[in-house]
Amino acid sequence: MRTIVHLSDLHFGRIDPELLDPLRWRVHALEPHVVVVSGDLTQRARSGQFREAKAFLDTLPRPQVVVPGNHDVPLFNVFQRFFSPLGRYKRIVSRNPEPEYIDDEVAIVGVNTARSFVWKDGSIDSRQVERVKSRICGLDQRVVKIVVTHHPFDVPEDHNEAEIVDKAERAMQAFAQCGADLLLAGHLHKTNTTNSAERYKTAGHIALIVQAGTATSTRARGETNSFNCLRLSAEGVAVERWQWNSFSKVFELGPVERFLHTADGWHRPQ
Ligand SMILES: [Fe+2]
Ligand SMILES: [Fe+2]
Repeated sequence: MRTIVHLSDLHFGRIDPELLDPLRWRVHALEPHVVVVSGDLTQRARSGQFREAKAFLDTLPRPQVVVPGNHDVPLFNVFQRFFSPLGRYKRIVSRNPEPEYIDDEVAIVGVNTARSFVWKDGSIDSRQVERVKSRICGLDQRVVKIVVTHHPFDVPEDHNEAEIVDKAERAMQAFAQCGADLLLAGHLHKTNTTNSAERYKTAGHIALIVQAGTATSTRARGETNSFNCLRLSAEGVAVERWQWNSFSKVFELGPVERFLHTADGWHRPQ
């Protein structure tokens, strides 16, 4: 049994500060084994914004697997954008933008998909795919294998496919060969869970592609602020959506999707 809290798109610099204490309280109350943060910690990659984000993350449970998003690469400071895109992130948040957490039940591998040249779009290169493979290939089948990126491997129906991380097809083939179970991402500020077999032809293997909404940004794009909590068990996974209630001022339990773990991947219960 493992409980994983998945936060995304905090966007310090453009947050609703009213949400911070209730979010911190709820995350602690869920008693997660691991906290995952899938990027866009800041709005404009400024030092002060990174310091605020880091101070907030320091109040959340550990261990944490935190990766950067496109907003954590400077957009307007061209020198930094191209010569030191993650300089501030590494100095203030973490020297390692691709952390991992592995125990005897779960393997969580973070991948940095933020890029300087295609600022908004992300990409995953062959070196990164090889690293993920080296971490998850060969692990016991019972270990749930999770890849964390900022840019998603799938999009909701009303979104453009161009928003999918660049070079996703090749990466998904490799991940499927190694039995990757879950792909966690953010970026769209929209909660979404899909089955990899709908988009990718990965014979004999189905992964779940799970996106979290924005936990604290004021740019919620039509959704209330939210985060996900994944409850992993021997039978399957429950993906809980915890969403902000602006009347009661708490993050409360919203829809829960359940999937059973079978030999070829995940299926909704009949
Ligand atoms: Fe974002
Ligand atoms: Fe983003």
